[in-house]
Amino acid sequence: STRLVLGPLVGAIDQGTGSTRFLVFNAKTAELLSHHQVEIKQKFPKEGWVEQDPREILQSVYECVEKTCEKLTQLSIDITNIKAIGVSNQRETTVVWDKTTGEPLYNAIVWLDLRTQSTVERLLKKIPGRNKNFFKGRTGLPLSTYFSAVKLRWLLDNVEEIRHAVAEGRAMFGTVDSWIIWSLTGGKNGGVHCTDVTNASRTMLFNINSLEWDIELCQFFDVPMSLLPKVRSSSEIYGLMKSGALTGVPISGCLGDQSAALVGQMCFQDGQAKNTYGTGCFLLCNTGSKPVVSDHGLLTTVAYQLGRDKPACYALEGSVAIAGAVVRWLRDNLGIVKTTEEVEKLAAEAGTSYGCYFVPAFSGLYAPYWEPSARGIICGLTQFTNKNHIAFAALEAVCFQTREILDAMNQDCGIPLSQLQVDGGMTNNKILMQLQADILCIPVGEQFSVCAL
Ligand code: G3P
Repeated sequence: STRLVLGPLVGAIDQGTGSTRFLVFNAKTAELLSHHQVEIKQKFPKEGWVEQDPREILQSVYECVEKTCEKLTQLSIDITNIKAIGVSNQRETTVVWDKTTGEPLYNAIVWLDLRTQSTVERLLKKIPGRNKNFFKGRTGLPLSTYFSAVKLRWLLDNVEEIRHAVAEGRAMFGTVDSWIIWSLTGGKNGGVHCTDVTNASRTMLFNINSLEWDIELCQFFDVPMSLLPKVRSSSEIYGLMKSGALTGVPISGCLGDQSAALVGQMCFQDGQAKNTYGTGCFLLCNTGSKPVVSDHGLLTTVAYQLGRDKPACYALEGSVAIAGAVVRWLRDNLGIVKTTEEVEKLAAEAGTSYGCYFVPAFSGLYAPYWEPSARGIICGLTQFTNKNHIAFAALEAVCFQTREILDAMNQDCGIPLSQLQVDGGMTNNKILMQLQADILCIPVGEQFSVCAL
């Protein structure tokens, strides 16, 4: 069969909390040519704990790359036209592995995990006035279970094998991007141990002003700096693929997934914002080349640095831990829907929550509260309440949480946002998106304007 000549193509690895995807685009037109997606298991070994198997994460990346290449070949598209690969990933999730065997030394501790509550408590005692915002000027972050430093501290305190490996100089730490890039560029046979500024800015070991690992923070968390990956910009060649159908292709882009969404939505100007509805939901607003510290419970994060010699851009971020995960919970824990898509039909049938409210604080509350001990609640129930109302309340909960973030963002920025770009799996849910526009009182995406009711 004749092979289609399309010019250069680019591949994107998107390793999220719920699934991994590999997508191949025409580099000139940005047309999506083919993709493959694999769901990732989450393990809940104890109440509040969330883990994933780093081997499964890696396997899913290999599988997605190979399957997408097969699909392209079937479409007569020449995969040798794939000239570069980028990585975007769930952030904060923490992996420690052995560089001599290439094997993880423990499951990945997922960003949502709450096991570090007592670690956070212990660390707070070392801070004047137990002020959780003590390091905010340097890191943009409050001391919280969410970020990698406390997860790494927990691993060093609790996993004998990791302590041994550290003592023997065999251990490497990384967020999921580092684990993937190290493995794809050769792993134990010379893999490149690096991360980018956006992922580094989620560890709480990184100084977002100097764009370097911070010695004092590493001392505070008692983390040996020898474990840390080298920090690079978000756009440069880190290394080459060492196996599979794309052997030899450079890996030349890396962004935490929320930063990647901001870039993908072309929010390159100050004041441009997007909200991504994945497992959680994350509203990021570009604040330009200077970090803005929030007075209203938001995070300051590195948005992107598109090249070694380019300046970093920053964003204010409102992070909500549970968004899509509440629909998954309705499916897996309550069984009131068989598929996550069905929730839209249930909610549409009800058209109201009938006074039922759902606060899905399964992993505590993130922005703007940062309260790890908060837990979920469904209230306002009557004998009339049924699963449709609960489904509606779950969708409303996602919208109300976003409203709180938007209010905080408007207060921090001074200029209210007049439009919100949206993406992520849940944006297929039209009821959700209309509710979101109505609850925010601004247009959402291209399609949803505020209902005049
Ligand atoms: O900070 C966590 C975030 O990066 C996870 O994103 O898309 O997997 O919900 P997602």
